Amino acid sequence: MTPRKPRILLLGTAGQVGRELQASFADFGDLTCADRKSANFERPEQVGNLVRHVAPDVILNAAAYTAVDRAESEPVLATTVNAEAPRVLAEEALRLGGLLVHYSTDYVFDGSKQEPWTEADEPNPLNVYGASKLAGERAIESTGCRRLVFRTSWVYGPHGSNFLFTMLRLARERERLSIVNDQFGAPTSAIEIATATRHIVERVMEGRFGAEKDWTGTYHMTCADSTTWFSFAQAIFARAGGLLDGKLPQLIPIATADYPTPARRPRNSVLSNARLVERFGIRLAPWATALDAVMEKLLSDADGGDRPGA
Ligand SMILES: NC(=O)c1ccc[n+]([C@@H]2O[C@H](COP(=O)([O-])OP(=O)(O)OC[C@H]3O[C@@H](n4cnc5c(N)ncnc54)[C@H](OP(=O)(O)O)[C@@H]3O)[C@@H](O)[C@H]2O)c1
Repeated sequence: MTPRKPRILLLGTAGQVGRELQASFADFGDLTCADRKSANFERPEQVGNLVRHVAPDVILNAAAYTAVDRAESEPVLATTVNAEAPRVLAEEALRLGGLLVHYSTDYVFDGSKQEPWTEADEPNPLNVYGASKLAGERAIESTGCRRLVFRTSWVYGPHGSNFLFTMLRLARERERLSIVNDQFGAPTSAIEIATATRHIVERVMEGRFGAEKDWTGTYHMTCADSTTWFSFAQAIFARAGGLLDGKLPQLIPIATADYPTPARRPRNSVLSNARLVERFGIRLAPWATALDAVMEKLLSDADGGDRPGA
């Protein structure tokens, strides 16, 4: 008898990571994709009903309230989406004996450390978004379900709303752009996240990482190396000439204090991936290499007439 294909439920399928997960898990098993219409995280009981209906072996949760500044004025909504609905997912995963894959953020840390943050470091979020994501991590952990929680950072990709597309849009509108140069982090491509997630989930399901106690938990998952928003912008424009007909803006480095935002952000949110490498033998590409791949995709899509970021 051939074994049954694993049932996968992907939530947040329209987001940056969600879209790439849909591609990387397409041939993995029976994949059910849900967006905000079929699973609204503002109504956690609706999300729970869907999980019970699908009865998945693996839940991939890429849905989240990610509007960092808006969250300051919508803390209840951010917490419902980022903590209450994930708690329901975890409870259902526990009931089914399924695996919950969930994503969290570098913004659980306050940025005060000089070195990269490890999973052993104490979180201390500076903003509502970070606090809501930390509450989600803790809610999931408290159920004791089989789980992989991947903290990632500065996510961008070839689709969706992100810093890369903001830079391309602003370059078409302005000749000079002022960019913050004193926050340090790792831009992480959604493609890299989805590829690594598939690699790990597949091997966990095959039992290659041992018993649940050997792999369940929280891991940092970001592209290698680190930079500032200013240097990331420089790297984007160094590769974007073909998308902007050569019209490149002048970039001006500024301090965080010169660019006030509703939400405070950590000064250093670089995450050590040592635990991910040690446990799963996988390392994401350096951020600059991953950026090459995303820019090449945008350039080839643009050649086909699909203008990005417009
Ligand atoms: N973006 C980053 O820089 C960043 C950094 C660190 C960690 N992360 C984490 O990485 C994960 C993936 O983020 P991402 O960059 O892919 O985010 P994203 O592009 O903003 O996508 C989030 C998805 O969640 C959906 N969503 C929002 N509210 C919802 C609701 N009430 N019900 C159902 N779906 C809802 C959105 O749906 P709509 O399309 O309908 O709005 C969107 O498809 C998240 O856990 C995030 O916290 C992201």
